[in-house]
Amino acid sequence: MSVDTRRLSMTVGEAMFSQRSIRRFKPDPIPMDDLRLILEAAVKAPNGGNRQVGRFLVLTDRKVIQEFGKLYREAWWAKRLDEKGWTRPEDIPPEEKNYRSASQLADEMKDAPCIVLALAVPPGPPNSVIPACQNLMLAARALGIGSVPTTLHPKVMDRVWALLGIPKDVSFHFCIPLGYPRGSFGPTNRRPTSETTFLNRWQATVPWA
Ligand SMILES: Cc1cc2nc3c(=O)[nH]c(=O)nc-3n(C[C@H](O)[C@H](O)[C@H](O)COP(=O)(O)O)c2cc1C
Repeated sequence: MSVDTRRLSMTVGEAMFSQRSIRRFKPDPIPMDDLRLILEAAVKAPNGGNRQVGRFLVLTDRKVIQEFGKLYREAWWAKRLDEKGWTRPEDIPPEEKNYRSASQLADEMKDAPCIVLALAVPPGPPNSVIPACQNLMLAARALGIGSVPTTLHPKVMDRVWALLGIPKDVSFHFCIPLGYPRGSFGPTNRRPTSETTFLNRWQATVPWA
């Protein structure tokens, strides 16, 4: 079966400029053909020496996602305890919209239609897997499917590995839930490139500053 890349006809500019971190999903499943197209796009990304160490574990089984979702939630709160000392939703200040939305995802990960774990076989450096993750998320965007790159916590890794039968030497890079967005989402909010980009020398301003 060949891959119909014409289905990714959204311009690369539109995909990049409209990509958001989507954390609320409709329950609708993603067709397997679309998952395949997304993964085929992912593996086209550059990777170190073309050694292709990236491995992608696609979860669609409801029971597996339910079990994984519990571990994801535990991991999310373990990270918040390490980082902020928070242990429950009431600890998250109202103005921390990003954390509030991320905590809702931690509650709802168990209901995500699909989750892709971006992994790597040894030596498994992240910089060989992360370009593939961005390709994956842009391809999903072009199909109207939302995504967000997320991480786990050492506290749950052994149990995640046991749940999914992952060999111990395989490294973890991202956990990417996928689903059709629920509700609306606006544009990204980023610092101006005139602040984050230099020309020829550190801190030398760019012509458009
Ligand atoms: C390395 C990395 C780790 C991230 N971890 C999480 C996470 O654990 N949970 C989550 O909900 N979002 C996570 N995100 C998504 C970011 O919070 C998101 O990209 C950022 O807030 C900007 O959102 P926007 O792209 O919608 O503007 C992560 C993103 C990156 C690149």
